[in-house]
Amino acid sequence: MTMAPKVELHLHLEGAAPPAFIRGLAQEKNMDIAGIFDETGGYAYRDFWHFLEVYEAATSTLKRPEDYYRLTLAVLEESAASGVIYSECFLSPDFCGGRDLSAWREYLQAIREAADLAEKRDGILLRGIVTPIRHFGPEKARETARCAAETAGSWIVGFGLAGDEKIGKPKDFQWAFDAAREAGLRLTAHAGEWGGPDSVRDAIADLGVERIGHGVRAIEDPALVDEIAEKGIVLEVCPGSNIALSLYPGWRQHPIHKLRERGVKVTVSTDDPPFFHTTMVKEYDRLAEAFDWDDGVFSEISKTSAEASFCDNATRDIIMKKLEKHYA
Ligand code: ADE
Ligand code: ZN
Repeated sequence: MTMAPKVELHLHLEGAAPPAFIRGLAQEKNMDIAGIFDETGGYAYRDFWHFLEVYEAATSTLKRPEDYYRLTLAVLEESAASGVIYSECFLSPDFCGGRDLSAWREYLQAIREAADLAEKRDGILLRGIVTPIRHFGPEKARETARCAAETAGSWIVGFGLAGDEKIGKPKDFQWAFDAAREAGLRLTAHAGEWGGPDSVRDAIADLGVERIGHGVRAIEDPALVDEIAEKGIVLEVCPGSNIALSLYPGWRQHPIHKLRERGVKVTVSTDDPPFFHTTMVKEYDRLAEAFDWDDGVFSEISKTSAEASFCDNATRDIIMKKLEKHYA
């Protein structure tokens, strides 16, 4: 059987940067970021908060639209090699031009040009979710929402929230999410990764999201699991990320299987693959091993992902046809 086609809904573009690519950029620019790498050349960090610092240090080498063009090509090549046919990635005007609208448009154009080339080369489709960084604060998130609203359309399809979940509350970002919704963007937010069930509940109630990034800690509150299942809220689950960051001790202890059994719509993504030493192929393999998941489960999960993607229906039809052909 050919490699399973995969739909990925939760991928941070900078977080997917191969370490060798970032090292090369640093060399070109005479920047010293040697401290973020380990002796094997991979990214080195102690915990989630240190990970965020290392992430931002790596991202500091991406200074021009051209750098994002090359980054996008490198990332999509890796994704396509794992069988990904459709990917939604988080993009942050904070990193792409410092939330200046005309600079953001230039970065976006470069990313889209690379995505067009990758589509021709590998058949992979990319769409963007504009994402403020929570620990940069609500005021910057408002500026980010303005960038998002100005570029919303068939390519920028969503608005999200990433960064340190322990800082601030979802409600602080309500203005930004309202503006994004009014611009026609679909909504998701990281919650229930470092915050508990209340964080997930607040994201649903205060931001009106239809998907949750991670959301796995909802498992700690059975009533919340029922609410998520009843409302059909989709979880962008990134098991390898959670395990690499020690949220759970191992694959068998990860709650994705229980959430699915409780009727929650779960999807599978890599988050920041080189940081967590993962790929979509590894995620599928580890899940199959840990929970005895077969093709029937992966078929269902990938179709759930296609249904929950923020793309237009014509694009969804293309994805669905590829999934149906493979799993027929
Ligand atoms: N930014 C990149 N990866 C992230 C994660 N797993 N959680 C929150 N913010 C992030
Ligand atoms: Zn994430």
